[in-house]
Amino acid sequence: MIVIAHVSDTHFDGGPRAAERSGRVLAYLAALPHPVDVVLVTGDIADHGLPHEYEQAAKVLAAVPGALTLPGNHDVRAAYRTGLLGEPAADGPINRTAVVGGVTLALCDSSIPGRDDGRLDDETLDWLRSVLTGTDGPVLVCMHHPPVELRSPFIDSLRLHEAQPLAELVEEFPNVVAVLCGHAHTPAATTFAGRPLLVAPGVASRLRLPWEGEDPPLDYDAAPGLAFHVLDDDLRLTTHYRFLS
Ligand SMILES: [Fe+2]
Ligand SMILES: [Fe+2]
Repeated sequence: MIVIAHVSDTHFDGGPRAAERSGRVLAYLAALPHPVDVVLVTGDIADHGLPHEYEQAAKVLAAVPGALTLPGNHDVRAAYRTGLLGEPAADGPINRTAVVGGVTLALCDSSIPGRDDGRLDDETLDWLRSVLTGTDGPVLVCMHHPPVELRSPFIDSLRLHEAQPLAELVEEFPNVVAVLCGHAHTPAATTFAGRPLLVAPGVASRLRLPWEGEDPPLDYDAAPGLAFHVLDDDLRLTTHYRFLS
């Protein structure tokens, strides 16, 4: 069994508010009497993709050593690489894997430079295929943009478009256990290509749903939250959500 703490959309902007909200979540995780196996942050790490925002992010994320991150639409690849990964600046997609307790996390870059909606480009799809063919073990596909509509017109217009190639990959590989996303700033659970699709709440703000009144679409007073994904040895996935007021 592994436990993944899934955090998303920290939107570090150099100011005290983002640092406090993310710090609250990470302090909670750091103080757990039984540490989780891994902390995953699914994008929009920085608010404007600026170097000083990644500097702030790196400092706050250091509360949980080994946290895994992937980029979102608010991130900028070159600054993300230098600020969070200690790699030379480069503009190509940031795709990485991590193996935790025998489970492969495929961290996909669904961002499109200069845009807010998402897409997996050919390089990323080829990379994901190579990850899936390279293991018989369970795989969690992780990316910023949900590849389906969540019934929120605001966020649905900014979802991962052209999701069919990803759906075909997921259908081809039964070892894909689930897809984990952020971006929507709302805890949500649905399905994609017959697998669970689980969305972490946003740290920075919470999405207002159509029936809650969408003007404005984001609630900045709502408590930050996170998801815990528990993957049993028999590959049954259970998700719990927590909010930290
Ligand atoms: Fe976001
Ligand atoms: Fe986003």
